[in-house]
Amino acid sequence: MNEMTPPNTERAAALKGLGSSRKRVEDARFTQGKGNYVDDIKMPGMLFGDFVRSPYAHARIRSINSDKAKALPGVIAVLTAADLAPLNLHWMPTLAGDVQMVLADDKVLFQGQEVAFVVAENRYIAADAVELVEVDYEELPVVVDPFAAEAPDAPVLREDLAGKTEGAHGPRRHHNHIFTWEQGDRDATEKVLGSADVVAEEMVYYHRTHPCPLETCGCVASMDKVNGKLTVWGTFQAPHAVRTVASLISGIAEHNIRIVSPDIGGGFGNKVGVYPGYICAIVASIVTGVPVKWVEDRMENLMATAFARDYWMKGKISATKDGRITGLWCHVTADHGAFDACADPTKFPAGFFNICTGSYDIPVAYLAVDGVYTNKAPGGVAYRCSFRVTEAAYFIERMIEVLAIKLGMDAAELRRKNFIRKDQFPYHSALGWKYDSGDYHTAWDKALKAVDYEGLRREQAQRIEDFKAGKTRKLLGIGLTHFTEIVGAGPVKNCDILGLGMFDSCEIRIHPTGSAITRLGTISQGQGHATTFAQILASEIGIPADDITVEEGDTDTAPYGLGTYGSRSTPVAGAATAMAGRKIRAKAQMIAAYLLEVHDDDVEWDVDRFAVKGAPERFKTMKEIAFAAYNQAIPGLEPGLEAVSYYDPPNMTYPFGAYVCVMEIDVDTGEHEIRQFYALDDCGTRINPMIIEGQIHGGATEGYAIAMGQEIAYDDMGNVKTGTLMDFFLPTAWETPHYTTDFTVTPSPHHPIGAKGVGESPNVGSVPAFSNAVHDAFRAFGLTQTHMPHDHWRIWKTAHELGLHG
Ligand code: CDP
Repeated sequence: MNEMTPPNTERAAALKGLGSSRKRVEDARFTQGKGNYVDDIKMPGMLFGDFVRSPYAHARIRSINSDKAKALPGVIAVLTAADLAPLNLHWMPTLAGDVQMVLADDKVLFQGQEVAFVVAENRYIAADAVELVEVDYEELPVVVDPFAAEAPDAPVLREDLAGKTEGAHGPRRHHNHIFTWEQGDRDATEKVLGSADVVAEEMVYYHRTHPCPLETCGCVASMDKVNGKLTVWGTFQAPHAVRTVASLISGIAEHNIRIVSPDIGGGFGNKVGVYPGYICAIVASIVTGVPVKWVEDRMENLMATAFARDYWMKGKISATKDGRITGLWCHVTADHGAFDACADPTKFPAGFFNICTGSYDIPVAYLAVDGVYTNKAPGGVAYRCSFRVTEAAYFIERMIEVLAIKLGMDAAELRRKNFIRKDQFPYHSALGWKYDSGDYHTAWDKALKAVDYEGLRREQAQRIEDFKAGKTRKLLGIGLTHFTEIVGAGPVKNCDILGLGMFDSCEIRIHPTGSAITRLGTISQGQGHATTFAQILASEIGIPADDITVEEGDTDTAPYGLGTYGSRSTPVAGAATAMAGRKIRAKAQMIAAYLLEVHDDDVEWDVDRFAVKGAPERFKTMKEIAFAAYNQAIPGLEPGLEAVSYYDPPNMTYPFGAYVCVMEIDVDTGEHEIRQFYALDDCGTRINPMIIEGQIHGGATEGYAIAMGQEIAYDDMGNVKTGTLMDFFLPTAWETPHYTTDFTVTPSPHHPIGAKGVGESPNVGSVPAFSNAVHDAFRAFGLTQTHMPHDHWRIWKTAHELGLHG
């Protein structure tokens, strides 16, 4: 080292590695309208597809007449199930082991179901032709209520499953029953509940909602008949898995299929599954020999693509008189709609719902989930959630509040008393998970102090007095949540989707001049991967993040990976990135030692270089090492500097958080005002604090929408009542609350850089915080449980039913 050498703190800062709030490199193109989304793709001769969709929730199709549509100038073809049947493509496998109609085969099972696919010269002609297709329907009785679905005389929805008493996840006990999934110890739990001091029992409903990404789903399929290669650009959250599935379904060899996910305008789980539009566009391109585009509109997206949640969760929780929890029992009725198209790892038909013991040391627990068919759209995707974790967190955080009411105890104190202690990690939960690390008491105390919890409770007590004295018509709710997530699916031995193990991957190539390109098996939908994966590498290999290009989403170039959902990017692909970086560094060490004419063990890593131990003035920077890799023959070493890592995580990561929502509620109008929202997150090692804050703001805003108004609602006929953004609540800047973010850092012991996921935590944690605030406002007036979403009407109704309107 000499006087010109900057100290290593300065050199580390220049890398913009771990911990740097590096500005998002993606934003230059996004903010200048230079993004490249599926609908931006325009190809010579490209045709456009549009669907004829069912107006009925359950009906037999007597006939389809497409003569008038075909006669419209500019219409190329109208596909129906009869056209796809010879190719065996009129049904397709779902991710959950079920099958789903691509185009209605004999009958329709939900409103908005795909009946026929019109292909035309442009989008407008296709839409006009859709109106000309005549479908003769015979209406059938509709099942909307999941509890009515299993009545002995309930209509048979899935005639294709007639006589099948065994499904993908075990026995089926009724023609509308899909599976029963049991976890934990039933007998032991019932015994504890039977002899407990206190048992609180409640039905907690997490209503049906929808991820509603700003960009809807779509694709452009292009079959090149000359070289036999099919290319599909699409809104895919898991491009490699789509390629494999497309190959298996179509019989086209996998090397002849190229799947590209370009920029994606939000996914949130909506873009994990395979939709009929993809299959129809591919078939249409193969038949016509030209590219075919299909992009759904907003109403189609809300009505027909994957919904989220819809879990009826019956719970019982037991405790000693002084508030020590002794057992948890839960039965879920899961409304899966017309087809089981949930996107869960194969062995987990209810996802990771068995994390429902939450942050608490509950000695014994039992869980059973029953999936049923109804006349609603299929889906059951993880809407910014790691496979039903959101439902689980809402369930346990409501049950804790209900228990606190029963015990007459403060809910913050009840939580503190039952948290898993720091010294209990790694912690084995009663429902089978091994939590990697956590320090819940520290986070909780920090959160309560930050919001002055005691002061808030005093203010609330005064408010109740004032309300009773007629001095105010506003109540104050304090919504508490301590959530534990489980993200980063997952160890391959436990987690696969359609038999594909859930590892992930990273490939790195260092260029001779010391910059690099890295490619991953994940795909960003706006999370800033190009920014943050480069930061992980910068810290690992000493090349500035600004000199590293990150590429994802093209199956012809990226290494195989299972994609991005369930906050798995950082826990799995982030780990692969660090491990690939370490391979680069190991080779760089050998090159540096050769150049410095010392033994490999006599050099040590120093931020962006290897230096001779004890002689720091003798060093080789990564830039010099990179050049040497390409221009020197080094004995025993291949030229070049590249590495690839396929990472199979040993466990999942368990981020956690403590959220507090302070809400004012107007008893007479049902309106609410979020006075304060405090979110403390612990995602282990923080890669980019600014991006984490953005993730918290975005996820909490989605949580706010879900808790306070957003839903996919059906009437008794199975009509979707919330199929437009006039009815489906999407918050704008006007409604969005102000957030205060905070953190603690409890690294994951098994992740190479100690990072846990964070993208989904704010959705998981904020929904119970908002909902608990509503409940808490009415606790003093006798409310134990009411259902989300807490829109103005429902809040007003609660106040009314509690007799608060005089
Ligand atoms: O899988 P997905 O990208 O949706 O979720 P994630 O792994 O939780 O990451 C979301 C974003 O937050 C990414 O840009 C991550 O790099 C960033 N992040 C971070 O900066 N530090 C963490 N400990 C976790 C995520």
